[in-house]
Amino acid sequence: MSSIKTHPVPARLLDSAQCPTPFVNSLEQYKSMWTESVEQPEKFFGNLARELLTWSKPFETVKHGSFETGDVAWFLEGELNASYNCVDRHALKNPDKVAIIHEGDEPDQVRKITYGELLRQVSAMANVLKNLGIRKGDNVAIYMPMIPETLIACLACARVGAVHSVVFAGFSAESLRDRVVDCGARLVLTSDEGRRGGKNIATKRIVDDALRDPNAAALVEHVVVFRRTGSVVPWEQGRDLWWDEEMSKARTVCAPEPMNAEDPLFLLYTSGSTGAPKGILHTTGGYLLGAASTVKYIFDVHPEDVYACMADIGWVTGHSYILYGPLALGATTVLFESTPTYPNPSRFWDLIQKHKITQFYTAPTAIRALRRLGDQWVEGYDLSSLRVLGSVGEPINPEAWDWYNEKIGKDQCSIVDTYWQTETGSIIISPLPGVTPTKAGSATLPFFGIKPVILDPTTGQEMKITSDEDTGVLAITQPWPSMARTIHNNHSRFLDTYLKPYPGHYFCGDGASRDSDGYYWIRGRVDDVINVSGHRLSTAEIESALVHHETVAEAAVVGGNDDLTGQCIHAFVSLKPGVEQHDTLEKELILQVRKMIGPFAGPKRVHIINDHPKTRSGKIMRRILRKIVNGEQDQLGDISTLAEPTVVEALILKVHN
Ligand code: WTA
Repeated sequence: MSSIKTHPVPARLLDSAQCPTPFVNSLEQYKSMWTESVEQPEKFFGNLARELLTWSKPFETVKHGSFETGDVAWFLEGELNASYNCVDRHALKNPDKVAIIHEGDEPDQVRKITYGELLRQVSAMANVLKNLGIRKGDNVAIYMPMIPETLIACLACARVGAVHSVVFAGFSAESLRDRVVDCGARLVLTSDEGRRGGKNIATKRIVDDALRDPNAAALVEHVVVFRRTGSVVPWEQGRDLWWDEEMSKARTVCAPEPMNAEDPLFLLYTSGSTGAPKGILHTTGGYLLGAASTVKYIFDVHPEDVYACMADIGWVTGHSYILYGPLALGATTVLFESTPTYPNPSRFWDLIQKHKITQFYTAPTAIRALRRLGDQWVEGYDLSSLRVLGSVGEPINPEAWDWYNEKIGKDQCSIVDTYWQTETGSIIISPLPGVTPTKAGSATLPFFGIKPVILDPTTGQEMKITSDEDTGVLAITQPWPSMARTIHNNHSRFLDTYLKPYPGHYFCGDGASRDSDGYYWIRGRVDDVINVSGHRLSTAEIESALVHHETVAEAAVVGGNDDLTGQCIHAFVSLKPGVEQHDTLEKELILQVRKMIGPFAGPKRVHIINDHPKTRSGKIMRRILRKIVNGEQDQLGDISTLAEPTVVEALILKVHN
């Protein structure tokens, strides 16, 4: 790896005549801050929490609990309100500053919302929630498109102390139902429809389908519907309410509920190796500090900047980097409703030019797709406002990194490859602009408070690293403020998944190496999670959707490599006795997964086979399937432990013919 090029910090970023001086501007300064953050976390984070957040009651204990006891807490006695921190304090100082720039699905639909206006809207929505009986600690599910009202909904929940649970609007009715039931939502917020890439998305109809389930219906008292397209939608009298009608009855003043630092702010469901999706719980103080401090230091957001994150609000990146992080800092955040290729593949570059965006944050899969469509879509656009280009969600391949750096950043921007997870709450490994020389494909160095370690998965001990290629599993050795506190209703699963596999550590679930410069290289998941275009999918969930189909006896799902989406899903399916294979069966099975989980989870290939490769005790050897789909059938290793080694030949023929 020593042949890998190191890119110095672009000189322009450190030239105060051209750019605002970065908050951290030398490697020495970063190192001394990082050392203090891990050696004296009480001092470091106590100061940071007082600097970046406004507390209605000061905290006394900065850090409490441990990985061993699974009771991590930060800023224990402190009280604050996330919506006050994200809205009021900026509205009081600077009411006319733009908080949200909404770029609608059509490029000419731009809406700007100032902090003053945001405060009125959030307060009115908070009163709507209260009028509907929502109180501190209640759960509210949000199934909405990428519109300002979705952010307003989250902030209104935070204002009254309700716990929001945003469900990505690409999830199916069944996935939505499962999440509504698991979190015990009393209220669902949605829109008549969504708009994306010129198409209408039937959000309200999906909510109706989800609530047809008696368990969900028994929980949910009301559905509040925002009019996005104005289409006629089915209506359940008594249960369904129009957003605008409720808002017009509500006062635009609402005192924020004082929340303890450890009170829950939101739940967000994510996929694990096994079982049902996990409701990851984030609390108010630590989470908000993580989101705000990473936007400050990693995106280096200054008061005049226009910051844009292209993620969906349904994923954690949307929570931390469209909503909470930038608004906690009083920044201007761009909310983008459309897709990178609508109406054409210049959309991102048009967006950057139009709004003079200074920080732009997207996923490798989008970069790869746009690179593939050709440079002509970038040419002619003025991208000179940019200073920081972020990447998140999956490892970024050097070709995509180089293209992003050269064609979009013109070698004048800092590329921040940010590594983190739903569970970490905010970025944990990343370069800092103005500080970190970068290498394509490396997330580089840990953020403040993060002490990573690479463990040998067989011994559980710290790995002795002798070369840049040595790969172990990534773990974190001490608690940090924005880490998840638990899995909703299942603390033992939280402990089993993250804290018990390597006692004394938080286990990330990713493989990683560390090079001689101390830079981290994330190698991908080591569990049964597949990462397709940055979407985290569980093999177990997809398998369970497949066996729901009447023809399927058994299913095994593995990740294949894919040039565009990073990984893709291959499903191996055997049929029940007597079922005849027919031409459309593969398509039907793909549809089955799309319908049960959501369109983004559909397998790329379904291989219908007679037998799975199994051990003598009947366990499917997914390792063999993985090697076959990735063209490594000549490196299968020892297959003598298989009950029926001859099935392997048939599988290879099936996949590669
Ligand atoms: C992967 C998304 C390599 C990783 C924020 C992690 C990455 C999972 C990177 C979390 C990166 C995220 N380089 N891999 N920069 N960022 N990942 O919970 O496998 O949707 O465990 O959070 O995405 O996905 P999640």
